[in-house]
Amino acid sequence: MTDLQFCPEEMARAAALTQRFMADYHAGLAQRPVYPQVDRAALAKLMAEPLPEEGCRVEDLFEELDAVILPNATHTAHPRFLPYVQPSPNAVSPFAEAVAATLNQNCNLWTLSPAANAVERTVIRWFADLFGLGEAAGGLITSGGSMANLIALTAARDRHLGSAARGAGLQGRPAPLVLYTSDQTHSSIDKGVSILGLGADHLRRIPSDDAFRLRPDLLQDAVERDRARGLTPFCVVANAGTVMTGAIDPLAALAGICRAQGLWLHVDGAYGALTALSPRHRQALAGIELADSLSLDPHKFLFTSFEAGCVLVRDAGALRHAFSTTPSYLAMEEDADFVDFANYGPQLSRGFKALKVWWSLRRFGSKAFARVIERMMALARQMGAQAEASSAFELLAPVTLNCVCFRLAALDDRGNEAVLRRLVESGKAFLGPARIGGRFGQRACFMNLRTTPEDVAAIMAEIADLGRDVSCRAENTDPEQAKVL
Ligand SMILES: Cc1ncc(COP(=O)(O)O)c(C=O)c1O
Repeated sequence: MTDLQFCPEEMARAAALTQRFMADYHAGLAQRPVYPQVDRAALAKLMAEPLPEEGCRVEDLFEELDAVILPNATHTAHPRFLPYVQPSPNAVSPFAEAVAATLNQNCNLWTLSPAANAVERTVIRWFADLFGLGEAAGGLITSGGSMANLIALTAARDRHLGSAARGAGLQGRPAPLVLYTSDQTHSSIDKGVSILGLGADHLRRIPSDDAFRLRPDLLQDAVERDRARGLTPFCVVANAGTVMTGAIDPLAALAGICRAQGLWLHVDGAYGALTALSPRHRQALAGIELADSLSLDPHKFLFTSFEAGCVLVRDAGALRHAFSTTPSYLAMEEDADFVDFANYGPQLSRGFKALKVWWSLRRFGSKAFARVIERMMALARQMGAQAEASSAFELLAPVTLNCVCFRLAALDDRGNEAVLRRLVESGKAFLGPARIGGRFGQRACFMNLRTTPEDVAAIMAEIADLGRDVSCRAENTDPEQAKVL
């Protein structure tokens, strides 16, 4: 056998080991601690290993997986892993990953990936239709919402710059471009503004209302103020699900302002746009069909494994305007049926991420996703109701989507931080931090296929217990007395 290849017999052993790993991992998941007691010595030893000159057997790799990787992994598919907008993968996604890696299509030029090209265009069309973006819409599968946001902002900037986009660029502009968003917007927009050279000074964070939605009246004022100062407003980023509380901005009202002011409307729907798969939740996204561009994350509500994001643009030509190049060393031969995705985004070599998106939808169908999305929302409502009903807890934000932000009412910020730290370290459950209105609390985001109502009740009981314990330690009181908490 030549270098870097398996003989058929080792290929069969590797496949069997992978199969056993996948089956055993899922079977034993709930028994593992969500967060590992990290064995720093084992990881330090692993990191101290010199680059090997000689290889090992495939069995050795799987032994190391069992001995070092698994005990030191955070088990994100565990039913009580709820800290971030992060799903447990649906069952077909890991298989799609293995198949995509085996086929190893390069989804840059269609000639290198004709079938993958058709698959990617199919899912893009399904998504564009789901959001009513129209016939001219296009887009591509990305690494995630951050990249989707960056691509959309690039398209918005270059559409504004017109023919200067490939010439003088921003440097040729007399007046700075200004972008508007709410004070709840995800940090990927800050990164995008920085990468695109727009400058953080030209990102206006408009205050949100008491349900954490961007206020259209304040947006209108800010745009007019900037115009009066000689600046050039060019884009508004609205949220279909803010990262902290899941708030949905008033998309139709914002679209009205954008249209009147000639601004590009980008909707960051990385978190919440795919709730549109549930007919019950679609109405909450009214106005999304008016977006010029939209980000969404299959590695959130489509439950694919990482990574899979998606950017959609109402006029696919805006992506070509921003990204197309025709270097002589690439044979780009687009026609009516096939496009070269290299012309639609910043990457040249691109993997076949669209396969897991396509297989997810084909294997399970949109109705299954609608049911799961509704189940996730119901778990959030259950936790929210429990937090509201008990004097031990205080809800920090309305429950809009599938996340709940709350705190222990009797504890201050430090006490709540201590409870969260101890919860995570116990390995019993993993929630995330929530700082809202300057106050610290816990945040549970239900995006885990295995979480049950019993898990929710158990997590709340565990947090209340930890709260009593932290409170007793702080006051040095008898834990029995503190049970009134
Ligand atoms: C609203 C929002 N936008 C953008 C992102 C970034 O997405 P990704 O982690 O896929 O890059 C997130 C992540 O949670 C998000 O919630």
